[in-house]
Amino acid sequence: MRKWLSKAMFVMSVIALFFVVSACEEAKETLDHNIPSQLMEKEKNKEAASEEKIKIGFSMDTLEEERWLKDRDLFKEAVEALGATVEIMAANGDDAVQILQAETLISQGVDLLVVVPHNAEATAAIVNKAHLMGIKVLSYDRLIKNADIDFYISFDNERVGELQAEAITKLVPKGRYVYIGGAVTDNNAHLFKKGVFNVLQPLIDNGDITIVFDQWTKDWNPANAYTNMEAALKANHNQIDAVIAANDATAGGVIEALAAQGLAGKIPVAGQDAELAAAQRIVEGSQTMTVYKPIRTLAEEAAELAVKLAKGEEVAAERLVNNGKIEVSSILLSPIAVDKFNIDRTIITDGFHSWQEVYRNVGK
Ligand code: GAL
Repeated sequence: MRKWLSKAMFVMSVIALFFVVSACEEAKETLDHNIPSQLMEKEKNKEAASEEKIKIGFSMDTLEEERWLKDRDLFKEAVEALGATVEIMAANGDDAVQILQAETLISQGVDLLVVVPHNAEATAAIVNKAHLMGIKVLSYDRLIKNADIDFYISFDNERVGELQAEAITKLVPKGRYVYIGGAVTDNNAHLFKKGVFNVLQPLIDNGDITIVFDQWTKDWNPANAYTNMEAALKANHNQIDAVIAANDATAGGVIEALAAQGLAGKIPVAGQDAELAAAQRIVEGSQTMTVYKPIRTLAEEAAELAVKLAKGEEVAAERLVNNGKIEVSSILLSPIAVDKFNIDRTIITDGFHSWQEVYRNVGK
């Protein structure tokens, strides 16, 4: 009986041992199964964390004109809304400073550089340095020339010039015209001028229009535009019928020079950018028109492109633009002509400026 009992106990402990061992095996197996999924989870978290941490460097030429403050704020807002961060530096119109700042952004480990070049040619150096570190470059509003840039987003700047000339030639189909250009170092200044002359040239050729003064404005500086306009008036004994200025800041300088001769509001003047001061001059009568370029759309589309390019995702181009070295994948947004007749339903309706701001001085 005892023998039988100890045999039974032995069998039972063997069975118990079997269950313990197989339970352990099972636990180990679940653990083994869990290891890859735990690792995958960890990897996923890591990926999510690094996605969150996409860092964009925004290298700007200047914050002088009102528009660039909008670009800066709206771009930052849009990048952050996409879960990325942005480091912003502005170079005050100095090429060497802009290159140095871009180097700083690269050394801070940005994933992508967005550049508004002061000088279309000099900033090619930034592209080369960024590419050496595997960082892509997006050219913002202004084209970087002669470099392998990865993408370009802007407005149709040639169209901007055409809109200006179409509006002014409607009012002054024949006469003596002054062209006050932008900064010769900015590719946009050349495109604006090309657009203006697309419209003017046939009228110049048939003798209806004479260009009596045509100058670039160093660094887009309104004081330089003032000096140019003063010289234009002097050289032509004030016999000028219309002025096309490459932006609202230079138009401001032009209108001051006209005012000094008692001519403000008597000679049509075109600008572009839809700056508040220009919108006020339009409703007050000293500026004829401006061209509105919706900066929010530019900033939001650029932010989306920047984050996608930084992640190595595909981005769709609408057209190719030659920058002297390559055909650059590009998006060019549409500009809108604005005068006193459509100002309310364009820039005011869009919230670019408020009605109160624009009409602040009217009737006073
Ligand atoms: C141009 C830009 C204009 C104007 C100008 C001066 O490149 O397209 O909107 O702001 O620079 O900064």
